[in-house]
Amino acid sequence: MLSFGVTDSKVSSPSDISPGATLGRMQFPVYATLLTDIRDTVLTITVNRPDALNALSSRVIEDLEHCLAAVSEVLTNDDGAWPVRGVIITGAGKAFVAGADIREMTAMSPDEAHAYSSRMHGVTLAIEQLPVPVIAAVNGFALGGGCELAMACDLIYAVSTASFGQPEVSLGLVPGFGGSVRLPRYVGQGLARELLFTGRRLNAEEAQRAGLVTALFDTVEELLDGAHSTVVLVGRQSPAAVALVKQTLSATQGMTTADGLAVEAESFRAAFATEDKVEGTRAFLAKERPNFPGR
Ligand code: HXC
Repeated sequence: MLSFGVTDSKVSSPSDISPGATLGRMQFPVYATLLTDIRDTVLTITVNRPDALNALSSRVIEDLEHCLAAVSEVLTNDDGAWPVRGVIITGAGKAFVAGADIREMTAMSPDEAHAYSSRMHGVTLAIEQLPVPVIAAVNGFALGGGCELAMACDLIYAVSTASFGQPEVSLGLVPGFGGSVRLPRYVGQGLARELLFTGRRLNAEEAQRAGLVTALFDTVEELLDGAHSTVVLVGRQSPAAVALVKQTLSATQGMTTADGLAVEAESFRAAFATEDKVEGTRAFLAKERPNFPGR
């Protein structure tokens, strides 16, 4: 296991620190607020501000932007190498993420708040646009911006003691990291409205019943192992096909059926232009395991 990140409050920006290890052409710096770890082509990003329950300060957002851009860069340019087949996002300590940083927000002007919201929207879109699945491994509180960060991921796995909620209205705030848009997609309009109007939290079992959480685990260790196993399973499939599936799912959100099917047909066309499709179908007919070129 390669561990690239350490907590270092003296580090001030990704550009002014010595680089960490490399994977493919990816070179992670040591982030002030994130830990990064790679094992078996699974990248785990741990938000690491446990004293503030991993609240999403501007610095966390900046580190997430940098880290996701680095992953995206290598996956886009490594021409079939695919050194990362999936990403896990989790939190250090007892919280996944307890929201946007309330302390930092007390001093924000309305325009600064808009910029803060827009910046985090960019992070959530960067997660959606990564060509590999991203799993939120929710190890504790996922509140406000934390729940919104989890909902930007492809899958939400959780430990049975986790809790979810959008308590913004209790602070005189509204969701600003995507909750108004993504929560109804996960749980439906009725429950989303109730949760957003009341700030009521869901425990992990309720969140699973509501469709927010895909899988529940008894311990954090089992949670991380479970997420890791899913990425390993993804890693046996065609990388090009998985990327196309993710792209299609994101692009068709909110479309009419006809428009969505048109996007799917384009995606199907694109799959037929890949070497992975040639290899996958050949291997099936030859009764062999495919060795996907990843293109
Ligand atoms: C800043 C936070 C924080 C947050 C916790 N802390 N949440 N700091 N921003 N969101 C800090 C506390 O101030 C405290 O610091 C330390 O973390 C531990 O928290 P406690 O409250 O002592 O822990 P506990 O009693 O276990 O309660 C856990 C909790 C509670 C239920 C999760 O911390 C809580 O309600 N947090 C706020 C949750 C929330 O409202 N989130 C939504 C934020 S708004 P000290 O220094 O006292 O030890 C949002 C908007 C998103 O997310 C959109 C923005 C554009």
